[in-house]
Amino acid sequence: MSRADAVRTGTEADAVGAARLHTSELPEGFLVTLGTPFLVRLYTRVVRFRGSFLLVMGDESDIDGFVAVAERTGDLYREFLRRDGVRAGLAAVPALARAPRRTWETLRYGTGGADLSDLPDAEILSVAVAPRARGRGVGRALVAAATDELGARGVGAVRVVTAADNEPARRMYGAAGFSPRATTEVHAGVEQVVLAWP
Ligand SMILES: CC(C)(COP(=O)(O)OP(=O)(O)OC[C@H]1O[C@@H](n2cnc3c(N)ncnc32)[C@H](O)[C@@H]1OP(=O)(O)O)[C@@H](O)C(=O)NCCC(=O)NCCS
Repeated sequence: MSRADAVRTGTEADAVGAARLHTSELPEGFLVTLGTPFLVRLYTRVVRFRGSFLLVMGDESDIDGFVAVAERTGDLYREFLRRDGVRAGLAAVPALARAPRRTWETLRYGTGGADLSDLPDAEILSVAVAPRARGRGVGRALVAAATDELGARGVGAVRVVTAADNEPARRMYGAAGFSPRATTEVHAGVEQVVLAWP
């Protein structure tokens, strides 16, 4: 696969595809509990905000995979709350009522309550590849393109949180030069590992 040909910068038109893939392929993640309309709004903000970006592979009507990255996660969340807060909040009300604890953990993590002081500010927020496109290097190409883009922005390091037992993700990040730095429990009972590059 030619990485340069296949990975492209995501646009607002890709936000729905990213939100759908997030919902189907990262169903255990905290943000899914807030609903697909919330995720569409969040990925639209990732595209619009200059401190974050979306990279995708495939056609916008049915993307094969994506990676979303923030130079500083807290800045993205603050921008999101400032620009989209009211509408996103309303969209998420039923989910907030269903899962207040998970939502709290998300906000705590995203706004700096956890001790991340020794870790890079930049963060890979999410990576997902459609099941039909897996095992062909799409995930690895997306992560490599993400670190390339960070380098082009003058950002030399990035972190990512993933489930400790997510073997495909651990291999994908390992191949891209990430190594484990800390373990955490973003969700009660689920061990998460914080990896960092380089
Ligand atoms: C993790 C994920 C993005 C990988 O996408 P992918 O395009 O299949 O990944 P690649 O083809 O680039 O393969 C990456 C590595 O995972 C390995 N891998 C792929 N599927 C695997 C599986 N089922 N079990 C074990 N390893 C697997 C590959 O062999 C490769 O390792 P290698 O380079 O040592 O050979 C994809 O499985 C996915 O979307 N999972 C659900 C969402 C998720 O967990 N995201 C990551 C957390 S944010």
